[in-house]
Amino acid sequence: MKLSHFSRLRGEVTVPGDKSISHRSIMLGSLAKGTTEVTGFLQGADCLSSIACFQKMGIEIENDAATNTVRIHGKGLHGLTAPSSVLDVGNSGTTTRLMSGILAAQPFTSTIDGDASIRKRPMGRIMTPLSRMGASFSSLKQEQCAPFTITGGSLHGIDYPSPVASAQVKSAILLAGLYAEGQTSVTEPYLSRNHTELMLEAFGANIRTEGTTATVTPAQELTARQIAVPGDISSAAYFIAAGLITPNSEITIRHVGINPTRDGILTVCRAMGAYIRLSNVKDDVGEPVADITVASSPLHGCTIEGDLIPKLIDEIPILAVMASFAEGTTIIRDAQELKVKESNRIDVMVANLSDMGVDIEGTDDGMIIRGGRPLHGTTIDSKLDHRIAMSFAIAGGLAEGNTDILGAEIANVSYPAFYQDLNHLMQS
Ligand code: S3P
Repeated sequence: MKLSHFSRLRGEVTVPGDKSISHRSIMLGSLAKGTTEVTGFLQGADCLSSIACFQKMGIEIENDAATNTVRIHGKGLHGLTAPSSVLDVGNSGTTTRLMSGILAAQPFTSTIDGDASIRKRPMGRIMTPLSRMGASFSSLKQEQCAPFTITGGSLHGIDYPSPVASAQVKSAILLAGLYAEGQTSVTEPYLSRNHTELMLEAFGANIRTEGTTATVTPAQELTARQIAVPGDISSAAYFIAAGLITPNSEITIRHVGINPTRDGILTVCRAMGAYIRLSNVKDDVGEPVADITVASSPLHGCTIEGDLIPKLIDEIPILAVMASFAEGTTIIRDAQELKVKESNRIDVMVANLSDMGVDIEGTDDGMIIRGGRPLHGTTIDSKLDHRIAMSFAIAGGLAEGNTDILGAEIANVSYPAFYQDLNHLMQS
């Protein structure tokens, strides 16, 4: 896709529903008794994969894409039936890992597979704790990667010190813990997003958290409920960055989830000197939301590290673009996890931004960006990674010369109307 340049971005935009919350609504809705109605559901390819997988296990799910409303007719904790064929997760790591936690406890065997990107992603991180709880796994081709088969069993609780701050790992274990004998705890090195804990509580599970430890005890039943999904801050991030680095711009993004385990981008924007304002702050059943307004700002570099990393892990590609337009040096460290996302995001960002003329250096756990040089257009390979494609749509819009993004349509994974919404801001 050839990109248009923008000279200014103005107006309002409403980004689609939060991807993490949308996935979880399908999973907990399927395991609850009764009908769960979800509004603001993200119609991205990843969340549609979650719907298709649970439909394959006998759950009736109605998806009205015109209104983003989904009705899940849950059959209770023991209502899933064995799928008649492979569960296809597409590009979705969240579907793979969270669903594995549920499948680990089912009295049947199931196989998970996905696209070329998912087949490279590490699954040992969930296989190890879930095996320790009593499930068994076999990878069909490559060691500890998809495709793999799970044989569910009767599980027992564990106390798991997770080596990574990963909400997917934590959630897989907690979901398995709903079925385990005794209590199940996960302790993370840093706190990762807590949507699973919040939603489990809302569905009536016995869950408590203390510091970076979450503990669940087996549930008798989950109760269906209404879920209003807020806008995804990870999708809003492209417009937050674009509004700050494009001259003469002002953008308001409506109804964005600002859960404190996800709002690291706001902290970094402030540290870089951005004009950013929150209004209409509300609480939507434990998930705070706000309208976010940004305006063109002179930015300076900063250091992004430590417990901030899990709070902005998916925003690092667009933060790297922002840092390229900031004066001075931005250092991103403690972010080794970037190597095992939909692509190796350290390598891919460094290669593509260098091609555009940015002074950037990859490190073992992040990158160092010396900003302030002009960017020039080039051909960008998105590597089947939606966040790479959308980040370079912003970088390319501001670069001199033409930028062409190969595989730009992968944005569909999390933000199907991304290019239309960007166009709208260019024309307002
Ligand atoms: C997610 C957790 C994060 C994030 C991913 C969504 C989730 O992954 O990068 O996009 O919904 O739990 P990790 O758990 O691998 O950090």
